[in-house]
Formats: sequence, C-alpha cells, structure tokens
Amino acid sequence: MALLDLIKNRKSVRDFLDTPVERDKIMMCLEAARLAPSASNSQPWRFIVVDDRELKDKLCAAAFSGLYRINSFGKTAPVMVVVISEKSKFLARIGGMFRGTKYYLIDIGVACEHLVLEAEDLGLGTCWIGWFNERGVKSVLNIPQSKKIDILIALGYYDREKLGPEHGREPMDKIASFNSY
Ligand SMILES: Cc1cc2nc3c(=O)[nH]c(=O)nc-3n(C[C@H](O)[C@H](O)[C@H](O)COP(=O)(O)O)c2cc1C
Repeated sequence: MALLDLIKNRKSVRDFLDTPVERDKIMMCLEAARLAPSASNSQPWRFIVVDDRELKDKLCAAAFSGLYRINSFGKTAPVMVVVISEKSKFLARIGGMFRGTKYYLIDIGVACEHLVLEAEDLGLGTCWIGWFNERGVKSVLNIPQSKKIDILIALGYYDREKLGPEHGREPMDKIASFNSY
C-alpha cells in the first residue's frame, strides 16, 4: 500500500481479537523500529515484547490498575511491547541540554511510529499507551527501577468493522504554512 494510504488507514485499536500474532510479523515490526533514525544515531531504545499469555496478563494487571484503569483495554491485546528509553550518546545528550530538547523522546517516537506503521502494513492493529503504572511494569519484567519506560504499544489483530470513530485532525492551513509562521 502507498505510504500515505497506509497512514490514512491507521487508527488506534482498543479492542483486539484473541488471535496470537506470528513471531515473524513481530520481528518485522521490530526491524522497522530498529532502522529508525535517531539523534547522533544514538538508538536509545530497547523493546521487550511480551507475548506469553500468562506474563502478558500479569503485566497488564500491573500496568492498568488503579489510576491507570482507563487503559484496561490493553488487556485485550495479545502482545504488549514495552519500550525502554535507554541513554542517548553523549553528543545527543549534551546537544539536547544546550537546545533544551529531549532528543531521546523524539527518537523513541520515530522508532515507535516505524513499528506502528509496519504493523498496520501487516494487518495488525496498535495503540500507543503512555498512561500506565511504570513501576508495576518494571517489577513484573524485572526491569531495574533506574530505567525509564515512556511508552507501551499494544499490538494484535483486530476487527476493522469494530473500530471507533475517526479522530479528527486540524486542517492543513492551521498546522502548516510555506515561508512564514
Ligand atoms: C505518545 C502517545 C501516548 C498515547 N497514550 C495513549 C493512552 O495512554 N491511551 C490511549 O487509549 N491512547 C493513547 N494514545 C493514542 C491517542 O489517543 C491517539 O493516537 C489519538 O487520539 C489519535 O487517534 P488515532 O490514533 O486513532 O488516529 C497515545 C498516543 C501517543 C502518540
């Protein structure tokens, strides 16, 4: 599919089918993420794919309890990708300090969107999840508390007919212009 059509088709999925996702498809999503550009080529990411049913249920119970219950839909996803924000290279960190820019977050965003678009191309749905119990996720997966997890990505097959309404986007003239602000 042409890239722009793929981008137009993609919507966040919050209701997944109980169908396992093939490992080779997951690997293609990870490959798309692996090839993402990053500041100073830092590649400040690590992806932990949780597709073991029992572990995934445990992870979701910890991630989406209490305050974070609003994201309980995550429990329906057969796969949860935990994205650890690793330390950027010195140059990216020092440059970021001067610029007041968290390059690593941009890097993580690019890599995750690569993953998401590859998933879409493979007929898989995704939802970015930024609101979750980070401490809970770390303790279930034995990730040191000193690590930072900024995002989870729910991944799995879904029924397109059951997708929620489209989220609107700002009109082009509000978000872009040529040659001046
Ligand atoms: C960084 C980030 C964090 C997000 N966190 C959540 C979340 O915690 N829960 C959720 O349901 N959706 C989350 N989303 C999905 C957005 O709500 C969604 O992308 C937006 O409403 C546009 O809808 P669409 O993806 O269907 O086009 C997140 C998206 C991004 C990029």
